Amino acid sequence: MATRILGELSATAAAPETPGPAPVARIRGLTKAFGDRTVLDGIDLDIDRGEFVALLGRSGTGKSTLLRALARLDTTHEGELNVDGDVAVAFQEPRLVPWKRVHANITLGLRRPNPQKAAREALAEVGLTERADAWPLTLSGGEAQRASLARALVREPDLLLLDEPFSALDALTRITIHSLVLELWSRHRPGVLLVTHDVDEALLLADRALVLGSGRIAKEITVDLPRPRRREHPRFAALRAELLTELGVSAEEGFA
Ligand SMILES: Nc1ncnc2c1ncn2[C@@H]1O[C@H](COP(=O)(O)OP(=O)(O)O)[C@@H](O)[C@H]1O
Ligand SMILES: [Mg+2]
Repeated sequence: MATRILGELSATAAAPETPGPAPVARIRGLTKAFGDRTVLDGIDLDIDRGEFVALLGRSGTGKSTLLRALARLDTTHEGELNVDGDVAVAFQEPRLVPWKRVHANITLGLRRPNPQKAAREALAEVGLTERADAWPLTLSGGEAQRASLARALVREPDLLLLDEPFSALDALTRITIHSLVLELWSRHRPGVLLVTHDVDEALLLADRALVLGSGRIAKEITVDLPRPRRREHPRFAALRAELLTELGVSAEEGFA
């Protein structure tokens, strides 16, 4: 109960007093059904420019469906959905084209002057300069995911959508890629919507964490932890317990 009250207080404290600039993404009443099954049931959500939002939820709650709608990969929904700017997406599988070298994957479909230079710079940013001429199938999981991030970054998105991009990586690679994502985010400042099933990942990375359940945003917390984030921070366990409770997992199970 104490954690719930703290969460509400912090959410209130973080609310802007004067209206800020228009959000990068604005969703109102987003409803999506597959056949007679309603997966998203009137979602309202704003993502501010430069804001990092994590979206949690049990498997099958519609996280990817929401992200696909924002990416315009699926336009068969009801409700209002506005994105002010360019969008880039990275998925759980890096989705690199195997018959094109890494640098050619980065520039694939890219419409901007001097794409080769942009690709080189993006690969340098994710630490993949040495692998620019490699074939995708020779990359490690972490390298392939970094290439996928470079491909998203080179598009200079205003909104970056990440659908469980780290969930197939081993624990150590994940730690490295978390700091890389934070570094890229602080440098380029896109709005980010990160889908994850990992509560700790949400708390380490995001400004705000949402839990999707029964087609709605069932819970929203402001992650009021100082950056760089540490799991040892006294508030971390309280926020983790709050999110796990909403996900229907006890804190003990969550630690297992
Ligand atoms: N193309 C589709 N056709 C029918 N049902 C789908 C389709 N895509 C997703 N679903 C269903 O919608 C629900 C939400 O899916 P999804 O958004 O992928 O969930 P999540 O990403 O949260 O695990 C699931 O029950 C899934 O089976
Ligand atoms: Mg999904």
